[in-house]
Parts: sequence; C-alpha cells; structure tokens
Amino acid sequence: MDTVMQGTLEGAQVVIVGGSSGLGLAAAAAAKARGAEVTLVGRTPAKLDVAATRIGGARTAVADIADRNSVEAVFGNLARVDHLVITAGGLQLGRLAESDPDWLLEEVQQRIAGPLYAIKAALPLMPPTGSIVLTGGQFSDRPPGNGESVIAAAVRGVEALARSLALELRPIRVNVIAPGLIDTPLFDVFGPEGRASVFRETAQKLPVGRTGRPEEVGEGIAFLLGNGYMNGEVLHIDGGGRLV
Ligand SMILES: NC(=O)c1ccc[n+]([C@@H]2O[C@H](COP(=O)([O-])OP(=O)(O)OC[C@H]3O[C@@H](n4cnc5c(N)ncnc54)[C@H](OP(=O)(O)O)[C@@H]3O)[C@@H](O)[C@H]2O)c1
Repeated sequence: MDTVMQGTLEGAQVVIVGGSSGLGLAAAAAAKARGAEVTLVGRTPAKLDVAATRIGGARTAVADIADRNSVEAVFGNLARVDHLVITAGGLQLGRLAESDPDWLLEEVQQRIAGPLYAIKAALPLMPPTGSIVLTGGQFSDRPPGNGESVIAAAVRGVEALARSLALELRPIRVNVIAPGLIDTPLFDVFGPEGRASVFRETAQKLPVGRTGRPEEVGEGIAFLLGNGYMNGEVLHIDGGGRLV
C-alpha cells in the first residue's frame, strides 16, 4: 500500500482568526507542531502577544472579524495563505423575550458575515491545495433552550455555508469543526461558580464523563487542514454530546 503523507503542514502558512485564545490557540499549537507557520488574528494586541509567546512564536495581526475593513487590512499585508481557520467569536446568549434582536444578531455578523469577509479577502492568496475550517457547535443539533437560538441558527448556517463553499471554491476544501463543551476562557463571563456548575453538570451528562480540552479540538482542526480528502465535512468533537 502506498504511504500517503497525511497530516503534515510543513511550511504551510496558516492564518487563524480567533487564534489568541481557546480553540484557535490550540489549533495554532497543533498546526505549528506539524510544521506550519501561523498568523494569529484577534481584537486584542496584548492577548495576541501572550498567545504568540505561548506557542513559541507566531505572526500576529489585529482585526475584528465583524468589521470588513479591518479584516481586509490583515489579508492585505499577507503574501500567501495556505489554510484559513476561523474560530473568532463570543457567546452572546439571550432569550428573545428579554433581549434586543439587534444585539442577538451580532452573533450572525460574527459567525456568518465575518467568515465571508475573511474568506473573500484570503482567496486571492490561497493555492488550489488550500483549505478553510469554520467553527460550528453543538447548538446546531442540541440547543439546550437557554437563550442560544440565534447562535444555533448561525452555527447551522455555518455548516450550510461550508458545504456550499466546498463546491463553489473547489478545489479549495472547506470543513467545519463542531465542538461540544470545551474548557476555554469563553465561559469566564459566567463567573467562577457559574462556570464550574455548567462544566460539572455537562460532564455528568456526557458519555465520556468529562468536558473537552482545547487541545482535543486543536488536533481536530489540524487534521481537517492536513487531510486532503476531507471536504464539506462537519467534524464533531463533543464527547458524544449529540447522543444524550
Ligand atoms: N469553547 C467551547 O466550548 C465552544 C464550543 C462550540 C463553539 N465554540 C465557539 O468557538 C468560538 C471560539 O471559542 P473559544 O472557546 O476558543 O473562545 P475564547 O477562548 O474566548 O477565544 C475566542 C478568540 O476569538 C477572538 N475573538 C472574539 N471575537 C472576535 C472578533 N469579533 N474578531 C476577531 N477575533 C475575535 C478572541 O480574541 P479577542 O477577544 O481579543 O478578539 C479569542 O482569540 C466561539 O465562537 C465559540 O462560541 C466554543
């Protein structure tokens, strides 16, 4: 049987929007471990500096994915993008009855419009062997009913977007990573006790008996980038969360 060099990212230029923390930072570490050169993009320069140091060096750039001009400025300064990863985003939860729809819709701006801005700007810099990974999530299949309805709509939209773009942008590959509950700074907004109780209750329900680590998602993203036959796929890394 032929040996196929799968998974190597040797010399590849990988841009990670959302790379200064959590899933994106873990993806950056995994891509670097496979030989890639990474560019971390986020809104906060200090976070980017700390993240770049943590993974032993990376180019950094400041942009808000929801702001088209700032996204275009980042890619205007790059010469080549082999792979684009988008994990930028927050967690704007709110029940419709108590929330401003326009505030809730900021999630759509970040999760749907943002990737469109970034992909459009990156495309002229991408080779045919390039690939894109977008971020979905478990709310797409299993919304808990706690104010996540717009996020659920957006992440389902991300999956549809990826499948359609996998055809439109061919031969560039487009995939989605769909994590379950992963231990990242995203949940710091709940405060220490709120955060601990969400993680404890979720761990009890999950078949694996624990919540996820960012490194487990980072490995999944690096796999999607490096495997040239993965395309139009949604890779769930959720401890079996969709089954319970
Ligand atoms: N962790 C989970 O359990 C989980 C599960 C499923 C889906 N997700 C989704 O995955 C995404 C990343 O989550 P995470 O856990 O990695 O969160 P995180 O640890 O808070 O990291 C988010 C990253 O995105 C950047 N970012 C946030 N908003 C941005 C914007 N508008 N423009 C550019 N960069 C932005 C942040 O830096 P700055 O704030 O400095 O910009 C940071 O680098 C979120 O959309 C989240 O909803 C997370």
